[in-house]
Amino acid sequence: MAAPRRRQVELRTMTTLGVGGPAELWEVASEAELREATQAPYRVIGAGSNLLVADRGIGERVIKLGPEYQDLALFTGQIDLWLGAATPLPGLVRRSAEAGLSGLEGLLGVPAVLGGAVAMNAGTRFGCMADVVQEVELFVAGELHRLPASALAMRYRHTELPQGAIITRVRLRLTPSTTERVKALLDQVDAARQGQPKVKSAGCAFKNPPSDSAGRLIDQAGLKGLTVGRAMVSLEHGNFIVNLGGATARDVCTLLSIIRRRVPGLELEWQLWGFEEGECAAA
Ligand code: FAD
Ligand code: EPU
Repeated sequence: MAAPRRRQVELRTMTTLGVGGPAELWEVASEAELREATQAPYRVIGAGSNLLVADRGIGERVIKLGPEYQDLALFTGQIDLWLGAATPLPGLVRRSAEAGLSGLEGLLGVPAVLGGAVAMNAGTRFGCMADVVQEVELFVAGELHRLPASALAMRYRHTELPQGAIITRVRLRLTPSTTERVKALLDQVDAARQGQPKVKSAGCAFKNPPSDSAGRLIDQAGLKGLTVGRAMVSLEHGNFIVNLGGATARDVCTLLSIIRRRVPGLELEWQLWGFEEGECAAA
C-alpha cells in the first residue's frame, strides 16, 4: 500500500513570508494516507500564505494535501462542483472569469489553496469564500464527513472547524454572469490591491478593527519603514510586513510587538506556529 511521502523541510521554503524552521512534512494522497499521517500530533498547511512559523520549527507533523487533491482541470465552467482542497485559488479565479461565472472575484490576488482559503474565510470587501462555499468534506477523527457551510459559522477571516479537522474537498456554487461583467469587477479588485507590496509577505498581519483599517492605523502611527533585522513594515501598506531577504521569526515578532504597543487593540490575522504562549507579539 502507498504511504504518505515524508521528508524534512525548512518551513521558510513553504511559506510566502519565507520565515520558519524545520518540520517533518507528510504529503498525503488519499484517505488511508490521511489516517496514517494523523496518528501523531499534526498541523495542516495550504499555500503557507497566512503563517508565521518560529525559527526553531515545529515538533508536529505538517500535513500537506498532494496533487491528488488539486482539481483545477475538473473545472470547466460548472456552477456547482466539488473541488479538492489543494486546488490553487488564483487559477480558479482566472478560470471562473473565463467561464463567465461570478462569485470569486473578491479573491483575486489571494495566493491560497482552496482549503486554506476556506479555513481563513479569505476575502476582501468585494467578497469572501463564505459567499460561494456550499459544503465541505472534512477528515476528522479518522473519518471523512460532509458539513454544510451553514455549520461552519464563517465570518470575517474566521471559520469554525471541528478540532483537528482537515478540509479535503469543497463544494462551490458560482453564479452565471458574463466574462465582461466578471472582468470589470476583477479590475476593481485589482485596483484596490495596487497599494500592496509585491515582495515576500504573508498578507495583512492584523485583522481590521470594526469599520477601520489596521494598515491605516499603523501608517498613522508613523511605523511604515520600521525595520528590525531583515523584516520591515512595508512602505506601501502598513499592515504588511515584508521580508527583505533572510528575515527571522524573531525579527518579525519584534516588529509585531512594537506595532501592538503603538497601536493598542489590534488582533493578529496570521496563524502563529511553534511559539510558546505569549512568546511572539504578546498583546
Ligand atoms: P495557510 O497559510 O497554509 O494556512 C492558514 C490556516 O489555514 C492555518 O491555520 C492552516 O492550518 C489552515 N489550513 C490550511 N489548509 C487547511 C485545510 N485543508 N484544512 C484545514 N485547515 C487548513 N487574505 C485575505 O483574506 N484577503 C486578502 O486579500 C489577502 N491577500 C493576501 C495577499 C498576499 C500577497 C498574501 C501573501 C496573503 C494574503 N492573504 C489574504 C492571506 C492568505 O492568503 C489567506 O489567509 C489564505 O486564506 C491562506 O490560505 P493558505 O492556503 O495559504 O493557508
Ligand atoms: N491606508 C492607509 N495607509 C496604509 C494602508 C491603508 O492610509 O498604509 C488606508 C487606505 O488609503 C484606505 C484604507 O486605509 O483608505 C483601507 O486600505 P485598503 O483598501 O488597503 O484595505 P485594508 O482594509 O487595509 C483589506 C484587507 C486586505 C485586502 C484589502 C483589499 C484586512 C485585514 N485587510 O485591507 O486583506 O487585500 O482590504 O482591498 O481585512 C489580508 O487579509 O491578508 C489582506 C491583505
